[in-house]
Amino acid sequence: MRQIKRIGILTSGGDCSGLNAVIRAVVNAANGKKWEVFGIKFGTDGLTRRPLQYEKLTVDSFSNTPWPRLSGSYLGSLNSGVKLESMDNLSKLFGEGARELGIDALVVVGGDGSMNIVSNYCRLAGIKMVGIPKTIDNDTPITDSSVGFATACQVCADALDSLSLTARSHNRALILEVMGRDAGHLAMHSAIAGMADVCLVPEIPYKIDSIINKLKSIKKAGRDYALIVVSEGVRREDGQHVSAATNKIGETVYGGIGQYLSAELNKRYKEFQTRVTTLGHVQRSGTPLAIDRILATMFGAKAIELLSLGHTNRMVVWKNNEIADYDIDEVVKEGTTLLDPNSDYVKAARATGMYVGEE
Ligand code: F6P
Repeated sequence: MRQIKRIGILTSGGDCSGLNAVIRAVVNAANGKKWEVFGIKFGTDGLTRRPLQYEKLTVDSFSNTPWPRLSGSYLGSLNSGVKLESMDNLSKLFGEGARELGIDALVVVGGDGSMNIVSNYCRLAGIKMVGIPKTIDNDTPITDSSVGFATACQVCADALDSLSLTARSHNRALILEVMGRDAGHLAMHSAIAGMADVCLVPEIPYKIDSIINKLKSIKKAGRDYALIVVSEGVRREDGQHVSAATNKIGETVYGGIGQYLSAELNKRYKEFQTRVTTLGHVQRSGTPLAIDRILATMFGAKAIELLSLGHTNRMVVWKNNEIADYDIDEVVKEGTTLLDPNSDYVKAARATGMYVGEE
């Protein structure tokens, strides 16, 4: 087995809080093995662009800065998929780039899409790879939690706390649109933490009339304001997606369901005025919570341990309250983890009075 002397690390997909804590953990753990670490810039672009985009990271050059405590990705990231027809060319450039840098192994911090694309590149290039899951959507399979999710939930819960006060001042039903793509985890967790009255997620059908019934019951009970959380991937009542735009490779970028809901509620029920807050990318940039820093550190240390044992094509996971690792192909085969409509989260939300769709 070829001894590892130099590894690369890259962050891929939408950024989130805690990525720099992962980079710190990887750099420090690799330093313990006397390995060199090259930070690859802008996701896989750093190896497919010419000249190559990278930076040598040492314990001093990176950890002795405020960066590990901050959100964003120090290395930059790439959040657009890859067109099938560009795959061959890009994987060739990627392999050549990795060989030019003398990288024996790569740590990839990304979501399900990145695990799929980069594990293919690495396989073709003959580079060992370990993945670390991160995403505010919390939809990466097998792992119970991904870096960045907890902080994003906190940002949303804080927003709901703020909205509850202004909602009360003006007797309004305030709508908070949150991210999450096709998964309702972020919406559901945030709605529970922020004590919302209504939470709509892509996985559970809803009726505008049922939302209105909920608002009426709030009014009847003597409260003159309400909080509604809607996940960006929720469809209109007629089943159509509301979309803001498309990305570089033509995939739908969600956004706008909050405005649709606001217009429908205003049309059909006059007691509460509605307004919409679309949180957008602030959800990806809260100061990393302790739990995300801890997860980042444990994941980073485990990734280096796996590589030192010669393992490859693995993703580290947090499962049943401990760190484990799984074959990336198994992770990719699972697809995206959606919110289970029968989960304890949904049950608890409903049991405590929240409308979470259907009826
Ligand atoms: O996957 C993370 C995420 O923030 C999604 O929740 C959201 O739909 C998407 O990325 C937004 O992507 P972009 O940064 O390209 O607008």
